[in-house]
Amino acid sequence: MRIGILTGGGDCPGLNAAIRSAFYRARKYGYETVAIYDGWKGLIEGGHTEVMKEADVKDIYNFGGTILGSSRTNPYKIENGEKQVLENIKKHKLDAVIAIGGEDTLGVAAKLHKAGVKIVGIPKTVDHDLSETDYTIGFDTALNVAAESIDRLHTTAKSHNRVMIVEIMGRHAGWLTLMAGIAGGAHIILIPEKKVNIDKVCEKVLERKKRGERYTIIAVSEGIEMEGHGKEKKKLDAFGHIPLTDQGLARTLQALIAEKTGMDVKAMVLGHLLRGGAPNAYDRITAAKIGASAVDYIKEKKFGMMTGVNGGKVTPVALEKAVAKLKTVKEEDFELLEALME
Ligand code: F6P
Repeated sequence: MRIGILTGGGDCPGLNAAIRSAFYRARKYGYETVAIYDGWKGLIEGGHTEVMKEADVKDIYNFGGTILGSSRTNPYKIENGEKQVLENIKKHKLDAVIAIGGEDTLGVAAKLHKAGVKIVGIPKTVDHDLSETDYTIGFDTALNVAAESIDRLHTTAKSHNRVMIVEIMGRHAGWLTLMAGIAGGAHIILIPEKKVNIDKVCEKVLERKKRGERYTIIAVSEGIEMEGHGKEKKKLDAFGHIPLTDQGLARTLQALIAEKTGMDVKAMVLGHLLRGGAPNAYDRITAAKIGASAVDYIKEKKFGMMTGVNGGKVTPVALEKAVAKLKTVKEEDFELLEALME
């Protein structure tokens, strides 16, 4: 049995722990693991594969990023893309494929499964927006980085009597901003699921000032929509997403809030700091668990499945179901957590 393994979409801490444990579990069963480099691009171009050796994975459980490289290549946006992927799977004699990724990568995996590929998915995304799983690789580490960053802003914001805006990744879902905002004690949290009225935000900032608070911290998701501001028309990536990390949202908010409140406002973007560096213990352990489970699923012929984690247990979830709908923050999630902000 030869298992191809790839990582697609944005990298994050914990991917290598999953790759490593998949390798070791495969070896235990006498299977060979084949590295597919740079996500789906590796299977389209065909030449980007290599049989993995123990030396490739031995020491990587705590390394950030992905030793396999990643890309946002979408085979379904390339002429004959699916055909090329199928041909290369055959050419490299891959009996099964493990795809580690978020909604885009696993969306492709679901389609390839329908096309006959024996495929298993592993959930990964710092946005935490995959359905049918409580866990996605990278989220917990990113959450801790974001929360610590917000924590650190309190002293400097208070010293200087400032409004601090901190922009956090999250394209369509505000999980990272909401959780980090709560954990880090942000005073205002803005997420994509709730349209933002900038006048109301400024009112809240001024109210706080009036009651003697020296500073305000605003945690904002990169994917928010502001009332009265249409979505910017920018070049989209192969999965139809706007490259949000380049849009300068924090700066726009800084100028607007400074103008409307007359206060000293600073803005920062956490951006890729959230996805870089070593995974925390929880990500190392859980990613390793689901990496090994993915190989178990292959052995048990549970194809077209994703290694979800629900109620603390690794549970097989149909890829099609996992990517059918994004898991976004619901009003009740927000309200429950908002209560902690009072
Ligand atoms: O993988 C999800 C994500 O981290 C989003 O939160 C963010 O908008 C995007 O990736 C950034 O992608 P890139 O690294 O390609 O700029």
